[in-house]
Amino acid sequence: MIVIFLGPPGAGKGTQCKLLVDRYGLKHLSSGDILRRERKEGTNLGKQAQSYMDSGQLVPDDLIVAMMMKEIQTAGNSGGFVLDGFPRTIGQALELDKALEEADKEVDVVLNLRVDDIKLEERIVGRRSCSRCGAAYHMIFNPPQNDNLCDRGCGPLMQRADDTAEVVRNRIKNYHELTSPLISYYSQTDNLHHIDGNVSIDEVTAELLNIMDGILQDT
Ligand code: AP5
Repeated sequence: MIVIFLGPPGAGKGTQCKLLVDRYGLKHLSSGDILRRERKEGTNLGKQAQSYMDSGQLVPDDLIVAMMMKEIQTAGNSGGFVLDGFPRTIGQALELDKALEEADKEVDVVLNLRVDDIKLEERIVGRRSCSRCGAAYHMIFNPPQNDNLCDRGCGPLMQRADDTAEVVRNRIKNYHELTSPLISYYSQTDNLHHIDGNVSIDEVTAELLNIMDGILQDT
């Protein structure tokens, strides 16, 4: 199964994708996580992506498409995957369609998580993650038991460099200009499902499971 998770920055895509991984055995292909890994490893791609990411701009399509195609090929023979943060432009979506067609595959589900702009900044600025295991927290909505430590006891929490209020506004602006057109692109298929992401994490999860279980029953 191939799932695309659309939504603005901070909507809760990563939070909900973890559930898709656990429940449906899908591989989580997050373009943001892959880019952060490349940066940590100091690769050429990581170095090229750094200034775009830190200022809230999109990394150029050619770099992202090459990176994601490699990941998709590797995941190709597994039980399926969920794309989180890719595609993010119409150009990326066209390249993805072309590659899937060549591999005789297609996208099964496109999930569009809708969240009002006013909530996004609050969610992003309060986000923290464990510097060792990557577990995600929010200082208000999903706080750790001990102020700055991971509940699993493995390490201190960190904040992403692009999670400042100023950079977040740039990311939201770019989402509206470059990524939101994907909603009408995928509305030309019958795979697109909208999810209200303005509610609590558990309520979003319940709606997501409802949609996914419905789709799996019909297949
Ligand atoms: P990326 O890492 O993909 O960032 P993003 O899309 O901006 O998304 P986030 O990871 O910030 O948010 P999320 O929706 O996953 O929210 P989360 O679940 O963490 O990309 C980073 C950068 O990489 C981009 O800016 C760009 O430069 C580059 N890049 C990546 N992909 C690219 C591409 N395809 N093309 C070009 N450039 C690319 O939740 C956020 C917080 O809210 C958490 O603290 C969580 O606990 C909390 N939360 C979640 N759900 C709820 C809820 N329902 N109620 C209350 N709180 C909630």
